[in-house]
Amino acid sequence: MVDDAPVRATVADLPGVGPATVERLRGAGFDDLMALAVASPGDLAEKAELGEGVAQKLINQARKLADVGGFETGAEVEERRRTVGKVHTGSRGFDELMGGGVETQAITEFFGEFGSCKTQFAHQLCVNVQRPPDEGGLDADALFIDTENTFRPERIKQMAAAVDLDPQEALKRIHVARAFNSNHQMLLVERAAEVCRQHPVRLIVVDSLTAHFRAEYVGRNTLADRQQKLNRHMHDLQRLGGLHNAAVVVTNQVAAKPDAFFGDPTRAVGGHIVGHTSTFRVYLRKSKGGRRICRLIDSPHLPEGEAVVNVTEDGIRD
Ligand code: GTP
Ligand code: MG
Repeated sequence: MVDDAPVRATVADLPGVGPATVERLRGAGFDDLMALAVASPGDLAEKAELGEGVAQKLINQARKLADVGGFETGAEVEERRRTVGKVHTGSRGFDELMGGGVETQAITEFFGEFGSCKTQFAHQLCVNVQRPPDEGGLDADALFIDTENTFRPERIKQMAAAVDLDPQEALKRIHVARAFNSNHQMLLVERAAEVCRQHPVRLIVVDSLTAHFRAEYVGRNTLADRQQKLNRHMHDLQRLGGLHNAAVVVTNQVAAKPDAFFGDPTRAVGGHIVGHTSTFRVYLRKSKGGRRICRLIDSPHLPEGEAVVNVTEDGIRD
């Protein structure tokens, strides 16, 4: 492909590192240079079965090559924040709660039990991001990683028609991939980088973020492994969203067990990793008459609060 977008370096790009070591690093989950750059020598040595001296040397090399990032001034951060875009959800109340809509350069997590409308929000945002800026969109494409086979073109068409978008054109601006397992899901984020270079993508959806992980990693002894992978997956997404000034939206199911979870709706699948990596967390709960209560749980600069939305044939509404 010919363009000058940054190509992500991997451990195979490290000078003087042979294929056997590259394989070991990959096998231990350190394919990504950044993962290597921020690893601890002891941890790397153990996981990749290397001597600590070698591990330290590799980490130093990775730090030189990876853009580990440094400090910027508050003014620079403010300047970067100025470019943040917001995608409306269709509910004014909910947008207000979110400070104007779902933000780009951030991960927004929708979590809740089955049927709490996580997938409906995902569809709605794929439509709304295409709308012009003065109508709450970013005039851009959407990318949808579908892990549960719940992407529905007919639903998109309904929602598009309701906001005067050509339904067929709307479908063409959504790039959908079905993920068959958690490894495939992670791989698709790399593919997504390519799509983002070719199309003006400003929304990246993963629905569901955790379903495959939850199904594949069963039992206590697999927890550390699962969390490490999820962590990496989230950071890949974060990076991609930052690079393209896109909003990242992920969904996460939470079991409705009032006894076990009472008073603590933040106990979503994926636990601390997902919770801490998400910039915004929205807890969705079913209410009377098809309504859904959306609670903003965590946000760096907004107060917690709730909004009530309606799910209609046209999509998410107040
Ligand atoms: P899981 O993926 O199973 O965890 O659930 P989810 O949170 O993704 O739920 P989803 O977004 O699939 O919500 C399904 C709900 O949306 C249904 O129970 C309906 O209430 C509502 N819904 C879906 N399509 C329509 C529609 O065309 N009209 C109306 N009025 N409601 C709809
Ligand atoms: Mg769903």
